[in-house]
Amino acid sequence: MFFNRYFKAVLGEINIVAEVLLDSEIQSRAIALRKILQQASYEYHVLDAPIMEDSVYDNFYHELQNLETQYPQLITPDSPTQRVGEKPTTQFVSVQHNIPLYSLENAFTSNDVITWQERCQKGISTPNFLDSICELKIDGSAIALTYEHGILVRGATRGDGAWGEDITPNIKTIRSIPLRLNLENPPDRLEIRGEAFLPIAVFESINQERSQQGEALFANPRNAAAGTLRQLDSRKVSNRRLDFFAYTLHIPQDLGDITSQSEALEFLQQVGFRVNPNKTLCKSIQELQDYYDHWSTERLKLPYMTDGMVIKLNNFPQQAQLGFTQRTPRWAIAWKYPAEEMPTVIESVTVQVGRTGTLTPIAELRPVLLAGTTVSRATLHNSDRLAELDLHLGDTAIVRKAGEIIPEVVRILTELRPSGAVRFVMPSHCPECGQPVLKPEDESATRCINQECPAIVRGAIEHWVSREALDINGIGEKLVRQLVTENYVNSVADLYALTSEQLQSLDRMGQKSADKIIKAIAQSKTKPWARVLYGLGIRHVGSTNAQTISDNFPNVELLANASPEAFASIYSIGEEIAQAVCKWFRKETNQYLIKRLQTSGLQFVSEMKDSKAIALNPNIAGKTFVVTGTLPTLKRDEAKELIKAAGGKVTDSVSKKTNYLVVGAEAGSKLEKAESLGVSCLSESELLKLITLE
Ligand code: IVH
Repeated sequence: MFFNRYFKAVLGEINIVAEVLLDSEIQSRAIALRKILQQASYEYHVLDAPIMEDSVYDNFYHELQNLETQYPQLITPDSPTQRVGEKPTTQFVSVQHNIPLYSLENAFTSNDVITWQERCQKGISTPNFLDSICELKIDGSAIALTYEHGILVRGATRGDGAWGEDITPNIKTIRSIPLRLNLENPPDRLEIRGEAFLPIAVFESINQERSQQGEALFANPRNAAAGTLRQLDSRKVSNRRLDFFAYTLHIPQDLGDITSQSEALEFLQQVGFRVNPNKTLCKSIQELQDYYDHWSTERLKLPYMTDGMVIKLNNFPQQAQLGFTQRTPRWAIAWKYPAEEMPTVIESVTVQVGRTGTLTPIAELRPVLLAGTTVSRATLHNSDRLAELDLHLGDTAIVRKAGEIIPEVVRILTELRPSGAVRFVMPSHCPECGQPVLKPEDESATRCINQECPAIVRGAIEHWVSREALDINGIGEKLVRQLVTENYVNSVADLYALTSEQLQSLDRMGQKSADKIIKAIAQSKTKPWARVLYGLGIRHVGSTNAQTISDNFPNVELLANASPEAFASIYSIGEEIAQAVCKWFRKETNQYLIKRLQTSGLQFVSEMKDSKAIALNPNIAGKTFVVTGTLPTLKRDEAKELIKAAGGKVTDSVSKKTNYLVVGAEAGSKLEKAESLGVSCLSESELLKLITLE
């Protein structure tokens, strides 16, 4: 309903595409498309209240993109198509900030805050509490944005505060930063600052993908955001889903009626920015304390990281009166939450071998209480990081745990190094299989490249059975280890030959549990093609990419035979991913794996969009089909896979048991036989109707 109303209101300007558009019509259509796409993007990314189906958005987006490809003169800097990233650059250009970016003085106790407030009062010569606005201190990277006549012309990193780097193409990929301000008469120039950050969930999925791909992990969301912003290939930035909260507005003369930070935040919101909603205007020290106390625990529930609160005098004239020190404004202070860092001793280092063969050094710690939990292990990330730390056994290190993030070793206190301590070096051979390891120059990780390494074999199986992949219940890390050690399973395909008796021969495995596992393995055969593709563990193919790829390549044959160029038109699948997929399918061992999995009955064909088609489709399930002749759109194998996916059986020859013959052009003897036996014949479209239950 709402959707329809919306369309009537906003789409009023968009006429149904005429067969032939005149020049001016083309132009006005581009304008209208841009407008609706901008509005939809704002509702989605800033207001978190999407009103347009993705498919509708995509449809308009592609139409605009096509128009712009055909008539490049139509492209404007604020067009939504300009967000997807440009060709990689070789380096960023240094730019001087029009107004420097200051940092903040830190407070750690309420006394620090009281002292700051008293200092402000003294500066303004008043005995009264000065109204202060409290904002969350977002843990990301400060960004400076310049708008000219309402259009985003530059986005730069903070740098040293005076000079930063021009990262405009990367900034444009952040959907919550408007490319054009929602302002009737925009001033010549407007400077806006705020924090670019990665939501924790995005950070975690990036790291999960990086670990699956054997790449070095980001230490925390802040590093990941900073690293992403300085990524030279803006198309990669576009995939990273950075977000942005605006918090500073430098007001030019002509916006003089904004006289406080609360009004500035309101203005920022009105012109199209995301402003953090958790702000409070406080009128006493007690209210500042309440805000601090409230958010000290509530912040852990937020989907992004905060490391404190920022207190700013609300009134701009008062801010102006106090001014700045060399580095910080006198009218603001950051009240930080206690660091979740502690010193402890590194007793030893163990090295884990991941699914892709990456060696991860782990510090075994003297247990220490951090952010409410006892921590006895912390990641050292990778060999580069280890070398950087110059870790010696027995060293005292600062260990950090933040939110849900894995504890990590931040730095070593070399002053406390025991005499005679021995430096830890990465092993030259894989601790799992004993084969020599490799450290590619351009990677920070050391890896085992023996594809038969038990750690890699186990990792591949653990990944296959994991929840997001084939979701096989009952097979955990321990069982995988047993299965590999017993030589029952050496590849994911072996799972489908596993017997209940084999499982029962394992330690502590009764018949009931064994049967349950066999059943769970069998059930995985109904999991869709996207899950199977993800389960294969191809580099760069996480669950989202797997879904996108499977949407575009509805069966494995199409994907296996695709060239990297075939991926070019898929939004969000870049060249690196395309290369990785093609490389994987070129390998003979992988082709063999696919064959075995196909024989075992796994799904290598997309289910129909309509999920009713899956599993027990009463039209298809239990019925026997034969497919013959050339079908108008499907290949014969594709049609067969569709039938099988819907629960039907496909045989090669027509008999009395055949329920349907699917007939294409130039069908031969099979059609004659079917007619003589009275077997029903279906065209491709009739088959599809049966499958989709139309
Ligand atoms: S105001 C002159 N407000 O904290 C005003 N900063 O430690 C300076 N930050 O570099 C910034 N959230 O990156 C301000 N709500 C907020 C903030 C915030 C995060 C960051 C900012 C700054 C750093 C200072």
